Amino acid sequence: MLTQLIFLVLVLPLPVRCQTYTWAYSTYLDVEFSFSCNDTRILLTNGEIVKWKTPQHKELKQGHNDSDYLVVDSITNTGQDLVIKRVRNDLSGIYVCMVYNNGSLRKSAIRGLNIYKPLYHNLGEMYIENVIVAVITAVVFLVPLITMCAIYKFRYMTKEEKTRKNEMKRKYQEMISQHYGNTHNNHPHYDDLSEMVKAKDIDGSGGYDNPVVTAL
Ligand SMILES: *[C@@H]1O[C@H](CO)[C@@H](O)[C@H](O)[C@H]1NC(C)=O
Ligand SMILES: *[C@@H]1O[C@H](CO)[C@@H](O)[C@H](O)[C@H]1NC(C)=O
Ligand SMILES: *[C@@H]1O[C@H](CO)[C@@H](O)[C@H](O)[C@H]1NC(C)=O
Repeated sequence: MLTQLIFLVLVLPLPVRCQTYTWAYSTYLDVEFSFSCNDTRILLTNGEIVKWKTPQHKELKQGHNDSDYLVVDSITNTGQDLVIKRVRNDLSGIYVCMVYNNGSLRKSAIRGLNIYKPLYHNLGEMYIENVIVAVITAVVFLVPLITMCAIYKFRYMTKEEKTRKNEMKRKYQEMISQHYGNTHNNHPHYDDLSEMVKAKDIDGSGGYDNPVVTAL
């Protein structure tokens, strides 16, 4: 993969400089696709023999025929075309065709298949992979986070830490009760402020006393 990437960086400017020279192709998955070694840069001459190298660095010679690849001869050149019988993701990458003239290598050229990504018939087909990646990423991110929170919540606390925690809890409850009825002054505790305003205070000294109710 790394060598493929380096290769890609090195050859990427080529199609920019030679507008007429195409080496990288995108195609749909599960279809047949074929490369020709001949182009304006190679210019095959009669009798030259072509060999192919796959992205897995397997060398395919004349007459090769397996479940993935078929090497095809043209009238003038042996092994001129490489047929990929059924395009899959693991068959994408850089292919090299090597041209032999009378037994010695004259030239080689690269052909790219679905280097960036294959063609898709619709957007859903294309994004399903990204969605899977996103879900996995989220899980990978959330699991350690939740674990960390759990470890923090159920961590071992010293006596002082527990006392401090309880103290803070008590102060918080005190603050709440001061806002919604002071329990220390025997005032009834109300959850709701409007209810508190309407209600008659037991000893009549509350700041929220309703004067009408008191007069009765
Ligand atoms: C190779 O390609 C060139 C132009 O692209 C063409 O003129 C020539 O006939 C081709 N040779 C063979 C053997 O196909
Ligand atoms: C390639 O092999 C398959 C069986 O493995 C055969 O059916 C097919 O005809 C062969 N193709 C060529 C061009 O030899
Ligand atoms: C190919 O090589 C052989 C010997 O190595 C030589 O006799 C022959 O002339 C060469 N043919 C061409 C077309 O270069």
